[in-house]
Amino acid sequence: MSANYRVLKDKDLEKAISPEHTFSSDVLVGLSKNIKRIPSYYFYDRKGSQLFQKIMDLPEYYLTPCEFEILRTKKEEFSRLMKGEPFNLVELGAGDGRKTSILIDHFLKRGLQFKYVPIDISESAMEGLTRFLGKEFPHLEVEGIVAEYFDGIKWLNHLNYRKNLVLFLGSSLGNFDKIQSRVFLHNLWNSLQNGDYVVMGFDLKKEINLMLKAYNDSQGLTSEFNLNLLRRINRELGGNFDLNKFRHYSSYDVFTGAMESYLVSLEKQTVFLETIGQSFTFEEWEPIHTEYSYKYLESDIISLARETGFGIEKQLYDSKKYFVDSIWRVEKAE
Ligand code: AVI
Repeated sequence: MSANYRVLKDKDLEKAISPEHTFSSDVLVGLSKNIKRIPSYYFYDRKGSQLFQKIMDLPEYYLTPCEFEILRTKKEEFSRLMKGEPFNLVELGAGDGRKTSILIDHFLKRGLQFKYVPIDISESAMEGLTRFLGKEFPHLEVEGIVAEYFDGIKWLNHLNYRKNLVLFLGSSLGNFDKIQSRVFLHNLWNSLQNGDYVVMGFDLKKEINLMLKAYNDSQGLTSEFNLNLLRRINRELGGNFDLNKFRHYSSYDVFTGAMESYLVSLEKQTVFLETIGQSFTFEEWEPIHTEYSYKYLESDIISLARETGFGIEKQLYDSKKYFVDSIWRVEKAE
């Protein structure tokens, strides 16, 4: 017998915590809870990412046109921030890059020196994005990273050789719960340097019916997007969910300020997941919580920035004041 030990390195853990493994353990834990839940970042397989792109084109999904308006009408505010210094334009959750193209085009026309670093969880979205950018901006330097947000943030340490302008648009922070969003922002702060900028998109609290319509659209795309999660479980985890036996439901909680999405079981049923080797029983009308989409007051944004180490540089609103791109400055003692 010999006594021995081993220091585990990231690469030893790669196989143990593969993406499939994480998905199955998250689904196992989530469906075993008293209130069943599946984290919303599993929406974004190839089909889910395509559906989200279509949702952004819906007239009822006001968030996207509002943010487009801000970027189109206030682009000078962004270029002014960089004061002619070279920088990295980092984007978390870049998607198809349509919004950012407005800024890229403007920065290039202004002759600013920058590299674009899109970070996205979906490899198919990244493929599409790099192809699109290659055609649209042949001289743009692009270094795409496929990673989930928390890993993507760690990668920012590699970029600290020059100033960073980090975009987190589209109210994506709203998909984190209150604790997760603070942890996320604090990690982001940790990975950046004093004086770097972060642009956070926030959907503001507004007339409730407008928000309800945005998450219960008349074409049923949001419903399809939500139900696609069950399709993904069937495909990747050998599940036998019958999509006709669940319905999409989305409501607004005035107290927490979140639009919340659910998949509700339309009958008592049992679903088996092969890779987990376990069955899960659903009562008639039992919900699975699938998404938070938090909405904010100006005061929520101010406290969020202050609590996580950022100073607010500027608030850029659309003309209806439905949405704000909030420019934050990293504040660290030097
Ligand atoms: C990506 N995220 C900000 C969207 C949102 O509004 O929460 C995802 C979405 N869910 C339903 N519709 C769109």
